Amino acid sequence: MELFDAIRGRRSIRAFLDKPVEDEKIGWILEACRWAPSAGNRQPWEIIIVKDHDVIESLSRAAYDQDWISTAPVVLVVCINERIARSKYGERGQMYALESIGCAVQNMMLVAHSLGLGSCFVGAFEEDEIKKILGCPGHINPVALLPIGYPAEKPETPERVEVPQFTYIDKYGKSVDSPEWKGLLEYGKRIKRKVLRTLKKI
Ligand SMILES: Cc1cc2nc3c(=O)[nH]c(=O)nc-3n(C[C@H](O)[C@H](O)[C@H](O)COP(=O)(O)O)c2cc1C
Repeated sequence: MELFDAIRGRRSIRAFLDKPVEDEKIGWILEACRWAPSAGNRQPWEIIIVKDHDVIESLSRAAYDQDWISTAPVVLVVCINERIARSKYGERGQMYALESIGCAVQNMMLVAHSLGLGSCFVGAFEEDEIKKILGCPGHINPVALLPIGYPAEKPETPERVEVPQFTYIDKYGKSVDSPEWKGLLEYGKRIKRKVLRTLKKI
C-alpha cells in the first residue's frame, strides 16, 4: 500500500468482526511503534496487549462505556513511562513524551490499516480505573487504548479543513491561497483527478 493512500484511507474503526488477529500482525504493529520518532530517542512508551475478553469489557466500561470497544479481539494499551518521560527534560519531558506517543500510535494505526485491520485511537477513559484493571505501577500511565480487529464497518470519510485554512506563509495569518503559492495546492488537484478516475471505474 502506498504511504499516502494509507494515510488518507485509514479510518477510525469502531466495530470489529468476530475473528482473531494473528499474533504476527500484532508483532508488525509493535514493530511500527518501535520505529516511531521520540524526543531525545527516549522511547517513553510501554504497551500492554489485552486479549482476554473480560478484561477488554472492563476497559470499555472504564472508557466511559464505549461499548464498541468490547467487539475488538485485541486492545493495545499504550502507556507513558513517567520515569523515562521526566528523566532528561524535566517538566517539558512530559509534553515531549505525549508527542512521541502520538507519533507511535499513528505509526501503529497506519500499519494496522495496511495489514487489513481497523483500529481507533481511544483517549477518553478513566485513567485510574484502567491502571487498576491492568495493575500498572504508579509511574506507568495509560495514554491511549488501541482496539484492533478486522473491520465490521466502512465509515464515511469525515470532513477535513482545506490546507489554506490552517497554513500561513512567513507570518501567522498570511494566506497561502495566492497565485504566488499555487504550487503548494497542486496536490489537491491531483488527488481530485485520482478520485474521479476511481469513481469512473466503480
Ligand atoms: C487523541 C485522540 C483521542 C481520541 N479518542 C477517541 C475516543 O475516546 N473514542 C472514539 O470513538 N474516537 C476517538 N478518537 C478518534 C477520533 O474521533 C477520529 O480520529 C476523528 O473523528 C477522525 O476520524 P478518522 O480517524 O476516521 O479520520 C480519538 C482520536 C485522537 C487522535
